[in-house]
Amino acid sequence: MIDRVLEHLERDEASAVGRLCDWLRIASISADPAYRSQCQEAARWAAERLGAAGLQARVLPTGSAEHPGHPVVLAKTPNADSGKGPHVLFYGHYDVQPPDPLELWEGGPFEPVVKPADDRVPAEHIVARGASDDKGQVAMFLEALAAWKAVSGEPAGGLRVTVLLEGEEESGSENLEKFLQDFEGELKGCDFCLISDTGMISRTRPAITYGVRGLAYTQVRLHGPDKDVHSGFWGGRMPNPLNELAKVLAGLWDEDRRVAIDGFYEGVVEATPDERAQWAALAIDVPQMLRNIGLSPEADIGEAGFTSIEREWCRPTAEINGLWGGYTGAGAKTVIPAYATAKVSFRLVANQDPADIVQKFFRWLEGRTPPGCRWELEDMHGGHPSSVDPDSPWLSTARRAMERATGMEVALIKTGGSIPVAGMLKGRLGLETVFMGFGLDDDRVHSPNEKFELPCYRMGARSHAILIDLLRSEGA
Ligand code: BES
Ligand code: MN
Ligand code: MN
Repeated sequence: MIDRVLEHLERDEASAVGRLCDWLRIASISADPAYRSQCQEAARWAAERLGAAGLQARVLPTGSAEHPGHPVVLAKTPNADSGKGPHVLFYGHYDVQPPDPLELWEGGPFEPVVKPADDRVPAEHIVARGASDDKGQVAMFLEALAAWKAVSGEPAGGLRVTVLLEGEEESGSENLEKFLQDFEGELKGCDFCLISDTGMISRTRPAITYGVRGLAYTQVRLHGPDKDVHSGFWGGRMPNPLNELAKVLAGLWDEDRRVAIDGFYEGVVEATPDERAQWAALAIDVPQMLRNIGLSPEADIGEAGFTSIEREWCRPTAEINGLWGGYTGAGAKTVIPAYATAKVSFRLVANQDPADIVQKFFRWLEGRTPPGCRWELEDMHGGHPSSVDPDSPWLSTARRAMERATGMEVALIKTGGSIPVAGMLKGRLGLETVFMGFGLDDDRVHSPNEKFELPCYRMGARSHAILIDLLRSEGA
């Protein structure tokens, strides 16, 4: 039967791409409250597709009356609670990052276009915000479900499936923990979670990701004088919040580019020599990756003693994501601002805890308060790191499915990105997450002109269809 499902996917691909474009037209930007109704619309759109594939789908509100969140789509095959055979939880997110800067987009971010191969992208591709992260990758799974229903007449070909689509992944998954708590009863029967929201090594090297980093995100503001003042009268006579903030934050890294916060590395789990050898054997072309972002190979810098890939996959980092204050308009203005602000975040690895890291960072700042100044410190959001044992039987099944779908060898990788749900599922339900993603390094996720290549879409849809087949017929 799987051959017929794959044929169906192939025959139906043009309409599937059309459907994805419909979804991409909905500007479901979770970070911006102005796009509330678009988030709801994107959720309803997905629920309808799941319904058409024979699942029972609900669009459920999150948050509270005072602080409403974006809805979660929860869907299950009618047999989900039967207890027979494997039960997979598929997670994805329908929300997208804000599209700015708008002027750098060639077309509108929410006017998807299917473009032929050109000198920059070697295959047909869809350009739109969310094309790769994550609507395009969720669509691979939705279409695999639809194909199974069309060919077998049964939802997911009889496999037990629960689907959870979130609308706040790009803005910190703030209401998800509570949602998982409320719906724990409906999720705890799942055997593992599958997520398609990561990438491959290259077009010809698909990969399973077995670990994501955690995240702790803060905003810190240093207050000085109670008003902006003349820099001629006051410069050199009292703390300039911008000077002082820059100086304090510059101290976040030591000579070896290690994070200088006391206790930051406490409990950090090191990669094993075996793991490091396997990563090196992947021979990932780091100089090329640097060139892809306009840097030369000598820009390969970071924490001493680790390779570029190790620094991404298993080392924690500190980053300033934004830094502003004072006068930034046209011309020159001689002013010392009343305050200066920075967004500072940390990527975390096992066994760092986001709340603990934020506390350590704030304590570190308090210990460096410039005379007469005060801090205003905000813990914005975070997520735990998460990884799955590369020997997990669920991972092996997913890997086999990908190998059959692509005819290529499937590598095992980690990523420096974060997907907070994985840590929550592990902590709350003991569920392992396998990341089976089909993005490419140059998909420009979170950037202007985000794209998803059709061969990637195709590999993903086929992999999901085959994974459903392996699970329904063999178990793990
Ligand atoms: N899909 C990404 C995570 C990702 C990026 C995985 C690249 C693998 C490769 C996800 O949508 C994302 O952007 N996550 C945020 C999480 C944050 C907002 C809590 C991230 O990593 O910054
Ligand atoms: Mn994503
Ligand atoms: Mn993202």
